[in-house]
Amino acid sequence: MNTVVTTAGRTNKEFILKAKEISINLNLPYYERKKKSVSTIQNEQQANVLVVNKERLELYTYGSTSPFFFHPNSAAFRIKRLLQGEQDSFLESVRLEKGDCFLDTTAGLCSDSIIASYAVGDLGVVHACEKERMIAYMVDEGLRNYETRNEALLKSMRHIDLIHQNAVDYMKTVASNFYDVVYLDPMFEEVIEESSNFQVLRAVGAHDSLTDEWVEEAKRLARKRVVLKAHFRSNLFDKFGFEREIRLSSKFHYGIIELL
Ligand SMILES: C[S@@+](CC[C@H](N)C(=O)[O-])C[C@H]1O[C@@H](n2cnc3c(N)ncnc32)[C@H](O)[C@@H]1O
Repeated sequence: MNTVVTTAGRTNKEFILKAKEISINLNLPYYERKKKSVSTIQNEQQANVLVVNKERLELYTYGSTSPFFFHPNSAAFRIKRLLQGEQDSFLESVRLEKGDCFLDTTAGLCSDSIIASYAVGDLGVVHACEKERMIAYMVDEGLRNYETRNEALLKSMRHIDLIHQNAVDYMKTVASNFYDVVYLDPMFEEVIEESSNFQVLRAVGAHDSLTDEWVEEAKRLARKRVVLKAHFRSNLFDKFGFEREIRLSSKFHYGIIELL
């Protein structure tokens, strides 16, 4: 489906220019808002609508009134808990150390990558692949421009390199053992209750199934371990040889392939 780029209903010259610039960057048509509602534009253009407003970019997929936007909500909350000395189940599974190189093959909103970035610190590397162009663009924009007084969160967001590419295609271009840990968080086959922005991510994101090639490339690139996140009832752990870490209180589990 096509996407058009427009501004908020009330806007100014700066944001009209910004919307036009984004439409050029994404090679999408610019649509003059003229105070029309998003749903009117969706119907008139038979398209998704990307709204450029002061605070953020919002993508309204065709027929939807809940936008997709970048927000580091859950990462902010998790970093606060880590700063208070609490554990994070993702970090317990990936076991990153300061200075490690981490590849996230399924960036999404980058909540996990932000936590990985916090863990590896200034000397570490975090690369995150996202296949869907609109998600990649909006999340990259958010990681670079989202403002917060939480220094740890800010540094962690700015330190991530987002790669807009199919992860398997990207991995084929990278030398063996380049990363310490490679992470896989494909869309769950079974839906669990999620925050509303994750629900919208589910609608906008790619639903690629994990393949032998995906896991083999991850194993070739990772020096220490490959980590998979999946629903607790998923057969992916057994199918691809991941050792599952059982977490009785959680609907999702992590599976590990240790390589050292
Ligand atoms: C479940 S979400 C990941 C959520 C992420 N861990 C986070 O913390 O926000 C999966 C994401 O991977 C993307 N994706 C699916 N298949 C992909 C592929 N082959 N290469 C790169 N990204 C992919 C989807 O578009 C979606 O954004």
